[in-house]
Amino acid sequence: MIKLNFDFSTSFSLVEMGDIKDMMPKLEMAHKSLVEKSGKGNEFLGWLDSPIKVSKGLILDLQAEAEKIRKKAEVYVVVGIGGSYLGSRAIIEALKHSFDALYGDRNFPQIIYAGQTLSEDYMADLLELLDKKDYCLTVISKSGTTLEPAIAFRILKSHLEKKYGKQEARERIIAITDKEKGALKNLAIEEGYKTYIVPNDVGGRYSLLTPVGLLPIAVAGFDIDALVEGARLIRYQLITNTIFEDNPAWQYATYRNLLYSKGKSIEMLVNYLPTLQYFSEWWKQLFGESEGKDGKGLFPASVSNTTDLHSMGQYIQDGERLMFETIIHVENSNKKVKIPYDGTNNDGLNYLSNISLTEINHKAEVGTSMAHIEGKVPQIIISLDKLDEEHLGKLVFFFEFSCGLSGYLLGVNPFDQPGVEAYKNKMFTLLGK
Ligand code: PA5
Repeated sequence: MIKLNFDFSTSFSLVEMGDIKDMMPKLEMAHKSLVEKSGKGNEFLGWLDSPIKVSKGLILDLQAEAEKIRKKAEVYVVVGIGGSYLGSRAIIEALKHSFDALYGDRNFPQIIYAGQTLSEDYMADLLELLDKKDYCLTVISKSGTTLEPAIAFRILKSHLEKKYGKQEARERIIAITDKEKGALKNLAIEEGYKTYIVPNDVGGRYSLLTPVGLLPIAVAGFDIDALVEGARLIRYQLITNTIFEDNPAWQYATYRNLLYSKGKSIEMLVNYLPTLQYFSEWWKQLFGESEGKDGKGLFPASVSNTTDLHSMGQYIQDGERLMFETIIHVENSNKKVKIPYDGTNNDGLNYLSNISLTEINHKAEVGTSMAHIEGKVPQIIISLDKLDEEHLGKLVFFFEFSCGLSGYLLGVNPFDQPGVEAYKNKMFTLLGK
């Protein structure tokens, strides 16, 4: 289960019970607009039903395709940017072995990303690697016209065709794009690639629970059925429960908007597991692109502790008081390592012997919270039992739903991203398009 905890005493009177009461009519309206699909941007609310729309048939088909890829590829390249790659990367990085590439006893290809950067050295390095490895690729672009993945795909398609010949190259490419339009769709028809559809009514950053996220996650060997099931379970809770205390999305959307309205303009997503780093990247895109508009919006930032306590810790403790923290607390690790007893105790650590690293990490987490509360940083804590597919599915849908609610509370359309066009227009002019 996902639990949300907000201790009013740590909000330094910025948020009081009365504020929540005052917020209720707006919150009820935001909830209604979202679930009845009657609010701003309602043409992009298909993601609300993704967990119940992904059929068993589609899951089986994706798993079968993933199996085919695994049989012929040592490396699997996911070509996409923004919402077309961050979701799958968030889940894969959260679940994979920390040293996957070197450990290498799993029968799954290494997942590599392309089209998320224009770095020439990155692409040259990737081509050097792919010269030596058997690979397949999936190109993902809803619009089918985004420059970064389009360029990467042109280069990789040409590499693949030289390496395997045109026919086999075709069998190693899957395209995930719009049902009808876009350059990628046309190319896929022309070449006869296997394709999956990004539903019309689902925007990029809300597309994790569609083939966009599910195919790469399946190729990496993770249980997409359990991921979708987790989302399905929490979806029901979040949609049907209109009691504030029982709906963590209502609580989260309310607390963050209240803190924002009281002058906290940065939300820091905090994790204590390096495997969640890309989850934070996904979350930053979700909230940043959904709420950062019309001159408004919390700035989403993130830290991965305890690592970042030794870089950003000073600022959070003691710098300008701009932020609040949303902490992802994971109760159980999947593996165990205990501190060994040492007869010499030269390092003075015997007081920790036989204690697990998770216990120590949790103490670091609580200690940091206490220190940051002293430093007047309000905190929201989101707790989950462990990191597995089901819990991650819940967390994904929880944040998506909260983001929709929160955007409506803020008074913006959380499902468009007009600001993204600005840099593209300037860049295309400079490139002479
Ligand atoms: O959330 C979004 O809509 C964006 O981040 C897109 O996912 C990103 O710009 C990539 O777009 P596309 O999938 O059309 O290539």
